[in-house]
Amino acid sequence: MQGTPWPELQDQLREAGKDDVDWRNGRVPMFIHYAGEDVLEVAKQAYLMYFSENGLGLRAFRSLAKFESEVVEMGLGLLHGGPLTRGAMTTGGTESIFLAVKAARDLAKKRDSGRGKPQIVMACSAHPAFDKAAHFMGLEAVRTPLQADFRADPAAIEAAITPNTVMIVGSVPAYPHGVIDPIGEIAALAQAREIWMHVDGCVGGYFAPFAKQLGEAIPDWDFLVPGVTSISADLHKYGYTAKGASTLFFRDAESFAGMGWTFDNWPRGQYFTNTLVGTRAGGAIASAWAVMKYLGESGYQRVTQRVIATRRALQEGTTSLGLPTFGDPKLSILAYGSEEHNIADIGLRMTARNWTVGYVTTPPGFHQMLNLTHEPAIARYLTDLAESMREASASPRAGKLNSQY
Ligand SMILES: Cc1ncc(COP(=O)(O)O)c(C=O)c1O
Repeated sequence: MQGTPWPELQDQLREAGKDDVDWRNGRVPMFIHYAGEDVLEVAKQAYLMYFSENGLGLRAFRSLAKFESEVVEMGLGLLHGGPLTRGAMTTGGTESIFLAVKAARDLAKKRDSGRGKPQIVMACSAHPAFDKAAHFMGLEAVRTPLQADFRADPAAIEAAITPNTVMIVGSVPAYPHGVIDPIGEIAALAQAREIWMHVDGCVGGYFAPFAKQLGEAIPDWDFLVPGVTSISADLHKYGYTAKGASTLFFRDAESFAGMGWTFDNWPRGQYFTNTLVGTRAGGAIASAWAVMKYLGESGYQRVTQRVIATRRALQEGTTSLGLPTFGDPKLSILAYGSEEHNIADIGLRMTARNWTVGYVTTPPGFHQMLNLTHEPAIARYLTDLAESMREASASPRAGKLNSQY
């Protein structure tokens, strides 16, 4: 195969993306976390500066070690860590969850090796990464029903706990309805039984603290809550950093110990990682550090305020169209719908109007994870939604809800 000159490849790259959805116009309900051109530029430039460096080699790249430890320090500062709390960066929410599950499983085994197949107990709204981790690592995932307000039901979780339960989970927020689970109550169950409690703050970890600073009524959910053992918080979501960055935090050194893995039974000496992956993009680490420093608390507060205002505007608009919000989301995700309307039919008509539509299945409704691209798009979205609803009631069509992620 002959090589191809870069300008030609650039053209091909551009051409390949021409049918991708144009996320900048706010028509995508997920996948993107945008906080403005300036933030994006900082994220990109910092990434490029450390493009070739490797987070596996913190001995060689002292810069990356410093960035990572400062990112962890900033994260723990937000989540009320103290002198005993620990943490490290990973490449994403799924990896953070995998490593929390692994650490919980290993600690439980160390304390009581006579257990049967270890179990994770969580509400049915918890992210699939827990089931993925359970599947890959030989645990059983047990999912429990929600309360009427779509939050995890502590009583159902309590009833599902067995002697084999090594982790129970709460989400801040849970992805499907965007509501915050009753972390205090779930953590109390965990603490009373000495079970590991993981808070999945992949979405809310870098959003809820700022929302709370802005006066939103959010109950304590982080290390302030006794019984919370570990927290996952994604930087590449509401930290607005380059993709490939999350954080995983632990209450103490003993719980943190299970995140890492050491090996020396080969001819190349000691191999140690805190991550599932080996090589890590230095750019993602540098980008996280730079964006966090660039925005600072005041910058995050400003963006958070605008995202919350966008969510409220959307809630008001959809409610007045007859599609009320499910539960009481306080952060950046919401879902809404009504049994009186055919969500699948309306959704197809929105798709025809060039919106990428996100859905929840139980109950059927629309789902959005908001960022600043949605702020100027709300009015148009609501107009198109009203029109789609009118069409759907004037000439109803049968259709199955396309619940693809
Ligand atoms: C609540 C929650 N946890 C975990 C994840 C997994 O994160 P990632 O896609 O970065 O692996 C997501 C992703 O949306 C999420 O919403």
